[in-house]
Amino acid sequence: MSPVREISDDRPRRIQDPEVLPDEDLDRSLRPRRLEDFVGQEAIKDQLAVSIAAAASRGEALDHVLLAGPPGLGKTSLAQIVAAELDVPFVQTAGPALERKGDVAAFLTALEPRAVFFVDEIHRLPRALEETFYPAMEDAILPITVGQGAGARVMTIPLPPFTLIGATTRAGLITTPLRDRFGIQHRLEHYGCEDLATIVRRSARLLDVAIEEAGALAIAERSRGTPRVANRLLKRVRDYAEVRGTGVVTGAVAIQALDLLQVDHAGLDRLDREILRAICEKFGGGPVGLSTLAVSVGEEQDTIEDVYEPYLLQRGLIERTPRGRAATRHAFAHLGLEPPGPLSLL
Ligand SMILES: Nc1ncnc2c1ncn2[C@@H]1O[C@H](COP(=O)(O)OP(=O)(O)OP(=O)(O)O)[C@@H](O)[C@H]1O
Ligand SMILES: [Mg+2]
Repeated sequence: MSPVREISDDRPRRIQDPEVLPDEDLDRSLRPRRLEDFVGQEAIKDQLAVSIAAAASRGEALDHVLLAGPPGLGKTSLAQIVAAELDVPFVQTAGPALERKGDVAAFLTALEPRAVFFVDEIHRLPRALEETFYPAMEDAILPITVGQGAGARVMTIPLPPFTLIGATTRAGLITTPLRDRFGIQHRLEHYGCEDLATIVRRSARLLDVAIEEAGALAIAERSRGTPRVANRLLKRVRDYAEVRGTGVVTGAVAIQALDLLQVDHAGLDRLDREILRAICEKFGGGPVGLSTLAVSVGEEQDTIEDVYEPYLLQRGLIERTPRGRAATRHAFAHLGLEPPGPLSLL
């Protein structure tokens, strides 16, 4: 097995606009390369900068890092930036791509000293493999069993010092023993409008798109707090500006294009609204179980939980209750519906 494996491609992702540049290509071309290009998340950047400088000056591997947060907020970018700032190789894989202990051993034994080993979707690492990581993370050793039956012996392979960076959209699914072995843990939150506008301006510069301030702001406001969405919308708005306008992304052009894409003023897209409408109309405001909701809008349960729900929760449009998801008063207002009096929450 070659030590560098492709990231599995079955993770949840947004379904809108599949016909444009695949997300991966757009992500790659616009990905910030250094800490100074990474917009926002100031507290995380400051803390990482200190940890990186300290590890580099001691000539040691950086402590293991866990990055959690919804899709498209910059976990992979940040992991690559950490490797670039440390000036060490970046080796990547994903939880579901690791099936056997041998897969993990192949990666770990091939690492250069102090390299960053990035495991995306670390919450999907098979449970049985977690224990392989414990001694590797703690003592840089890999115990392996040689032989079988009565003659079996445990041998310990020393590993180069390395930094494991785990990324997850579901921090809650990571077991405590694994989580505790990450010395550095950060949770990325949705971005504010100003940061998103900065990201849109930066991407416009890289893509050679002429954009006015109002255009950048209009896109930022409707990007559901997510840089990846901001970049994708920028591309669609550029198409619209070229076909229906003069090529310049003005505020008016951006708003017309986003209306055409059915992204509303709160940044909700068609499926966001379908989810809200289902809870409000079909299930009387909820609570409704996630699986029922998923069937009702025809989307994967994982995708709803990873991609859609975090933003709807953050906007205060839905609530998680022990019996399922419920719509808030704001959800009814957003859809222009009357809330069912006593049932409404908030
Ligand atoms: N802070 C940022 N500054 C500038 N651009 C950013 C930032 N965060 C993310 N981006 C842009 O968004 C794209 C998506 O980010 P990234 O792939 O790092 O997200 P992710 O958290 O790894 O998502 P997923 O959970 O889907 O793997 C990047 O390629 C980059 O263009
Ligand atoms: Mg990623």
